[in-house]
Formats: sequence, structure tokens, C-alpha cells
Amino acid sequence: MATYSIRTSPPLRGEATIHTAKNSVLPILAAALLTGDPVAILATPQLTDVDTLCDLMRSCGCQIAWDDPAETPNVPGATLNLCARELCLPMNDDPMRRMRASILIMGPLLARLGMARVTLPGGCAIGQRPIDQHIKGMQALGAEVALHQGHIELSGRLRGGSVYLDMPSVGATENIMMAATLAQGTSRIENAAKEPEITDLAMFLNQMGARVSGAGSGTIFVQGVARLHGARYQPIPDRIEAGTLACATAIAGGNVLLRGARSEHMRALLFKLQESGVIIIEQREGLRIRGKALQPLEVRTMSYPGFPTDLQAPIMAVACFTPGTSVFLETVFENRYMHATELRRMGARIRVEDRVALIDGGSEIQGTRVISSDLRAGASLICAALGAKGETVVEDPQGHIDRGYERIEQTLSELGVPIQRL
Ligand code: UD1
Repeated sequence: MATYSIRTSPPLRGEATIHTAKNSVLPILAAALLTGDPVAILATPQLTDVDTLCDLMRSCGCQIAWDDPAETPNVPGATLNLCARELCLPMNDDPMRRMRASILIMGPLLARLGMARVTLPGGCAIGQRPIDQHIKGMQALGAEVALHQGHIELSGRLRGGSVYLDMPSVGATENIMMAATLAQGTSRIENAAKEPEITDLAMFLNQMGARVSGAGSGTIFVQGVARLHGARYQPIPDRIEAGTLACATAIAGGNVLLRGARSEHMRALLFKLQESGVIIIEQREGLRIRGKALQPLEVRTMSYPGFPTDLQAPIMAVACFTPGTSVFLETVFENRYMHATELRRMGARIRVEDRVALIDGGSEIQGTRVISSDLRAGASLICAALGAKGETVVEDPQGHIDRGYERIEQTLSELGVPIQRL
């Protein structure tokens, strides 16, 4: 449970150091189960999703310890040391029910132990989010799959195989890639996801001795090896955190340096903000965002390099402040407009029809008490609060925001936002 109080923000000033990407760190942590050697993940963000995955991995026998963050004062997050010498099936699958990304331990367990057991994963309620593509991939590598007392049980010695994904699922691509690293022979994943986090995972796996090629394109090849060894790795900066802060700036105006943000991972968002009147300057240290969004937006979410669904909610908050009609189409998840209901309670004029949302921006947005229904919805409400009149109280009864943003109130208050965690 967390509650944030936010008052109308002056223009943002200063700089924010972007944390390491949650969506890179989670699969990379799961990949540490592929070896019995020690693994160190640098600059790991302090997020509850990371804690949840660590709980699950500990229950599989993996030893996990944080280094003291004071030892690396100039780097956000801290080093996480992992060692899965004694690996077993999860003793406690409660974390799996809490977070969808827990499914990422399936591929590594199967590859190393010849068996895996998972429950249907939980997490943000933003659609059906089945795991059929993960299962199909494991079957293509030779796994037998059975349903047993509400668990999915997988077993078998993996061999190289080909899989065509019906949609470029990020998690399924990662799971299959990890499983294939220790399979006998070469595997091919077609219609693979191309997100930067996929390329990051491939780089980490290759540093562990895997032979993955083609990551970042639609076809990934994995040549199986007999064993993987330990590695030390720093994953990429979080393009979604950086994008959220860019949206916050586009609402409040100002001049902000997003230190470490990688513009090449954020093209879709940066083009949209630029079209709307925000000035974007690429600097050696990161991205500078200047000024406010003024023009309405057209946003169609797609898999990478299309506009990321995770930034649809934050940029909808921007659209509430730009005069004119903005048009949104959500193509990735079927139930991802829950923030629209709360934004309406703040005075936004939003009409949702199935996967389309029309936003008539420019009317007065007023602070009130609103509820965060999922991780990015919470971020959207906080962004909207910056431009709202008076005080907004964002209630986050399930603590969604802490799952993906490390101390968001600290990051924003350092940029001048009057925000407090109550
Ligand atoms: C990942 C991200 C999440 C982001 C999403 C889409 C992590 C930890 N999370 O989630 O932040 O919003 O990508 O960019 O990286 N699908 C199926 N069957 C499957 C798998 C997926 O039908 O077996 C569908 C989903 O319901 C969804 C779409 O495919 O409609 C995309 O899902 P997917 O790319 O798998 O998302 P996640 O990996 O769960």
C-alpha cells in the first residue's frame, strides 16, 4: 500500500539518473539459474518485482545477496550476487501468483534440471496474458507438458527445435532463448520479439558462454552448449522510466536531463513528443527534454520498434493537456485503459471504445483522490497530477508503482515536483 500526494508542479528543472531496466533485469536474473557459477548483476534497481523474483529463485535453492549500495555511490541500484549451485523446483510458488514475469524461471529450470513446474502467473490485470506461446516453445524443444493439480509440469531433455511465435511475445522469446542455450543442437525462434531487453538478455547469455545470434531481429538462432559459466553484467537503462519522466516534463514543461537514457531505444516516444512540440536534445550524457506538449497526439501501440504499450498510459496523461482530439489505439493488450476511468475523475474528457480511446484535451484537469489499478496506470495518474489544479492523492493499494519505479517520489521531487509519499 502506498499513497502519494502531488500538488500542481512548477516546470521541472535539473536531472534524473535513469535506473536499470526492470524488464531487462528480470529475465537476466532468471537466466542466472542456467549456471551453478556465481553471477553478479550490477546496478540492479530496488523494485518489488525484483524482490518477488528473488523470493521465487531463493525457493529454487539459489543464493542471493545484495552488495552495499554505498560501495558504488555513483551508480543507481546495487550489485546483486546470485549462485544457483544447488538448483531445485520452487518450494513456494506464491511469488508466481504475484508477478507474471515469474514464468521466466520455466526455461532455465527445464534446461538445467530437465523439469519445471509453474503455476499460471499473476501480475497487472491488463488483459488475458496467456502463456501458450511459452509452452509451445518448450514443446518445440522436446519438453513434455502436463497439467497436474493446477500446476503446469514440463519435463524432458531439450534438443534444438524451431518455433514460430503467433505474436512476438517478449516473455516467450526470452523463455525459449534461455531454454535453448543448454539444448542439444541449434534452435530457431521466428517472429521473435525485437525489444532492446531481448538483445540485452542475449548479450548476457553470450557472456555466460551461450551462442545466441540474431537477437533484435525477427529470427533468433541459439546453438546449444553443454554448460554456461558465471558472468558480471550491467543491464541497459530503463526506457520506460525515462519515457515516463519525459511525459512528466511534457506536462509540466521545464528543462530536464535524463542521465543515461538511450534515445535509440525510445524513438517512437521521442517522435510523438516532438510532433507535439516538445524539444528533444540528444546529449552524450543522456537526453534533454525541454518544453511542453502542445499538439494532440496519435498513438498506436505495437511491439518494438513500435510505440511501447507500457508508455500508453503515461502519454495519455500528456494528451489530457493538449488542446484538440488525440486518438489512441492499443493493439498489444486488450484491457489497458483502466487509467482512463481515473483520469476522467480528474476532469479529463476521454471516450473508450474497445481498443480505441479519444481524448479531448485542454479542459481543466483537477486534483482529486484517484486509484492506481496497475503499474503504468499509476505512473499515468502521477504524471497527470503534475498539471492538475490543486492536490491529487494517488492511492496505490497494491503497491503497483513500487514494482516498476524505484522511489518515484524522490526522482520527481529532485526535479522540483511537490510530491510526498504519505
Ligand atoms: C513484457 C513486459 C511488459 C510489456 C509487455 C509488452 C516484462 C517483464 N514485461 O510482458 O512490461 O507490457 O512485454 O511489451 O518484460 N501473449 C499470448 N500468449 C503468450 C504470451 C503472450 O497470447 O504465451 C499475448 C499477451 O496476452 C499480450 C501480447 O501477447 O497480448 C504481448 O505479451 P508479451 O510480449 O508476452 O508480454 P510480457 O512478456 O508478459
